[in-house]
Amino acid sequence: MRVLGIETSCDETAAAVVTEGGEVLSDVVRSQVALHAPYGGVVPEVAARDHARAVVPVVREALSRAGVTPAELDGVAVTSRPGLAGALLVGLQAAKGLAWAAGKPLVGVDHLVGHLLAVFLRRDGAPAPEALPAFPYVALLASGGHTAIYRVDGPSIGAIRELGATRDDAAGEAFDKVAKLLGLGYPGGPVVDRLAADGDAAAAAEAVPALTARKESLEFSFSGIKSAVARHVARRGRPEGQALHDLCAAFQGAVVDALVQKTVRAARAEGIARVVLAGGVAANRGLRATMAAACARRDVALFVPPFASCTDNGAMIAYAGALRLAAGERDALDLAPETRTALPRVTRKGGGAR
Ligand code: KG4
Ligand code: ZN
Repeated sequence: MRVLGIETSCDETAAAVVTEGGEVLSDVVRSQVALHAPYGGVVPEVAARDHARAVVPVVREALSRAGVTPAELDGVAVTSRPGLAGALLVGLQAAKGLAWAAGKPLVGVDHLVGHLLAVFLRRDGAPAPEALPAFPYVALLASGGHTAIYRVDGPSIGAIRELGATRDDAAGEAFDKVAKLLGLGYPGGPVVDRLAADGDAAAAAEAVPALTARKESLEFSFSGIKSAVARHVARRGRPEGQALHDLCAAFQGAVVDALVQKTVRAARAEGIARVVLAGGVAANRGLRATMAAACARRDVALFVPPFASCTDNGAMIAYAGALRLAAGERDALDLAPETRTALPRVTRKGGGAR
């Protein structure tokens, strides 16, 4: 089975052709980062308009690189939720048009399910098939829009359970906001990661509160740390030189410790010895190293997909869609975008102890 996947939920226009076995035949990602950079974050209307310009060329490119015509596809998968309504609408309309014109089945995919299954994509740098995780596994999904821990018993929505999520900002959003405060540009994660590598977290510890006050909880909160950095900058000005490196290291260390401790605790509570990383923040070197060490200490196997599978891409949507199609599922051409995920949530948004 060869399935086209289209992804336009946020600031990447992406399309890919993937087989039911996860083999990536093509994977085209066109980032809008440069368009949004002047605003320090994604502007929804700018995103939707740019998707509308880019979606047809990106889909054409994905089909041509895979050497597949629309007639040779077995189906069209598209991100239908969660995301920016206008941005999702562009991908949905493109997918519906193509599916209708080529007479192929259409399936909507929940973007978060795509991220959680991306570890199974077979592409350069991916683990060999025998080194892939078995179900169930515990997954940490940390991106610019979402941060949560899941128990994944299988590929369908009903087999995925949220164990805890952020009450406020996503981890990547915290990186982006702190980078903006420090005048480091957008997106902030990669820059902070680079600066933190030569920093001494202990030297800036007083600027950044620890995030793991209630150790038993699986919920996150990243808004307080952003405010602490803002207060520090208001008092002392933007740090430069070594002080900037130290502050980045302290901030990143606090975020990484919270992500790692809670993920490992979730795995232990569920009695599952397999942990999977997903989402753009999985690129963070501090997170990878700390998670690897924490998992090794507890005899937990850690699975980290290649970077191209962690950040937003069409291949993960095509793969999740292929599994839906293989299970005989279809969506009608009136499939509508939804801003929220279909995965049940256990975490209450907002303040309070956690
Ligand atoms: O998954 P993704 O590409 O898009 C979303 O669905 O949000 O994730 C992008 C996020 C951004 O917030 C970016 O700052 C963060 O991932 N990110 C990182 C790193 N690379 C990307 N955060 C920390 N360290 C990194 N190396
Ligand atoms: Zn994403």
